[in-house]
Amino acid sequence: MTHPTVIKLHDGNVMPQLGLGVWQASNEEVVAAIHKAIEVGYRSIDTAAAYKNESGVGKAIISAGVPREDLFITSKLWNDAHQRPAEALQESLEHLQLDYLDLYLIHWPVPAIDHYVEAWKGLIELQKQGLVKSIGVCNFQVPHLQRLIDETGVAPVINQIELHPLLQQRQLNTWNAMHKIQTESWSPLAQGGAGVFDQKIIHSLADKYGKTPAQIVIRWHLDSGLVVIPKSVTPSRIAENFNVWDFRLDKEELSEITRLDQNKRLGPDPDQFGG
Ligand SMILES: NC(=O)c1ccc[n+]([C@@H]2O[C@H](COP(=O)([O-])OP(=O)(O)OC[C@H]3O[C@@H](n4cnc5c(N)ncnc54)[C@H](OP(=O)(O)O)[C@@H]3O)[C@@H](O)[C@H]2O)c1
Repeated sequence: MTHPTVIKLHDGNVMPQLGLGVWQASNEEVVAAIHKAIEVGYRSIDTAAAYKNESGVGKAIISAGVPREDLFITSKLWNDAHQRPAEALQESLEHLQLDYLDLYLIHWPVPAIDHYVEAWKGLIELQKQGLVKSIGVCNFQVPHLQRLIDETGVAPVINQIELHPLLQQRQLNTWNAMHKIQTESWSPLAQGGAGVFDQKIIHSLADKYGKTPAQIVIRWHLDSGLVVIPKSVTPSRIAENFNVWDFRLDKEELSEITRLDQNKRLGPDPDQFGG
């Protein structure tokens, strides 16, 4: 295995298993970061209206010199736009200077305002119109997902959730898999360490494979069947995080990392956030 892997989504579309996250990167930073990423082989970029950097992402895509159809661009519908997804998508497309997205996600369910089913119906319509190739969600818990399926008959292709060795979300991941919903890991590096990179098992695997702790953690996501989007604006780290195709973790090593789970969230609780 020396090539970047792809994942087939339940709507038949395919997405790269490893992409670049750009949360907390400025419009200026993302241009250089995406150019570097594309140079070393990334083809998937994860942004969001709320990151306020879609125009930088757009600039980077245009100037990168890669055909649009070779790229996989994800953006997200923010919490204040659940009742106007068509308008919000148009704003994102304008900032990105694109005429379609590969993946559009509802960013948070925000149960307190309870408009996520309406938002989902809007995304189904946008997919029918060809403005987005695939549709999914982020931060949805089982009752939110079940409601989407019950009320529309359409399951998201992706549920992008906080997932790293300290918060492995095994129950939700299993539920997603049972419903053919691909789990995608956000904050996959636990935001740059936070007690992951200094774990003994991560270090001993890094020594064994001649890799860095970050590469071991990314490989753990890949070998666990997850889509993963580590963020970096540092050229050397962007390259490092993509240099993971020449080794694999075996079952025993994967389960040793599984034992690091502490159910420790770094981000907000999806049942409470927003509203
Ligand atoms: N759907 C959601 O609600 C949601 C929420 C959060 C995040 N996300 C998505 O998930 C992406 C990734 O999550 P994240 O940005 O929270 O965290 P992350 O990818 O776990 O960690 C990013 C942090 O780690 C550092 N880093 C990157 N590579 C490294 C390496 N090889 N060695 C050491 N440090 C390294 C980065 O620093 P530098 O940049 O300075 O190199 C940055 O500070 C986001 O960018 C976003 O696209 C989605």
